[in-house]
Amino acid sequence: MVRMKPLKNRPHVLVFDSGLGGLSVVNAIINARLGVDLFHLADTAYFPYGEKADEALILRVPAVIRAGIEATSADLVIVACNTASTLALDTVRSHVSIPVVGVVPAIKPAAALTQTGTIGLLATPKTVTRSYTDQLITEFGNGKQVLRHGAVGLAGAAEAKLAGETPDPEIFKAAISGLLDQKGGDAVDVIVLACTHYPLVQAELEALVPRPVTWVDSGEAIARRAAHLLQDQMDPEAPTLRRGLTTGGADEATRRVLLGFGFQTVEALSVSSQL
Ligand code: DGL
Repeated sequence: MVRMKPLKNRPHVLVFDSGLGGLSVVNAIINARLGVDLFHLADTAYFPYGEKADEALILRVPAVIRAGIEATSADLVIVACNTASTLALDTVRSHVSIPVVGVVPAIKPAAALTQTGTIGLLATPKTVTRSYTDQLITEFGNGKQVLRHGAVGLAGAAEAKLAGETPDPEIFKAAISGLLDQKGGDAVDVIVLACTHYPLVQAELEALVPRPVTWVDSGEAIARRAAHLLQDQMDPEAPTLRRGLTTGGADEATRRVLLGFGFQTVEALSVSSQL
């Protein structure tokens, strides 16, 4: 007889993002076959973060994450949003009592991969300007040149694609030309996708780059980090996608995407009204 471990014994992992970009991290966790119960929380009422003021985000992000942890009894939270992580990781850690894994631009692997010594960093307009990003480049860039571009509307284009719409092709073109048409852009041979939405539109971006480049994102490393932190608690099964949560009263498209992705239910999370 097969002895089944009760579901509630599996660690609960909460993947948080401003929107549905966290699904690229969920994909990485599925590929790594972590034996956990997964919950995805999208702050849909406040999407996109990449064009919001820091003062507002630093208040909102910890509050939404706390509400998400409470609603899901999470044992570990992944801040699957570079824009939020590069601003508010320390603040989030000071507000919660479970381990917090941040998702930040993958500068270190990119620096190890580049042959030309020039890396392209594609992120939201906020992430490219953060001092956290400067520090990552200084600490892990290994002296390589990093050309940055803050892409306007690209996360929204990824959401549109997920919803089954056709995103405006000009958004992809503007993102790639903003990155590669800079002085020195011809030498870029590694592109860091430093927003969790961007791996979801990598094919559209790749089609616009006329030469081979290596695309790097943080998904695999995050799955490895989560596995390391939860090693003794996981069972050998693949993850179960439990609940999708939104702050915006899940619209039909978001609900369809999350259910289509495999989440069992989609619900609205109520977050304190002053936010
Ligand atoms: N997915 C988020 C990130 O990794 C940002 C998208 C947004 O602008 O809200 O930065």
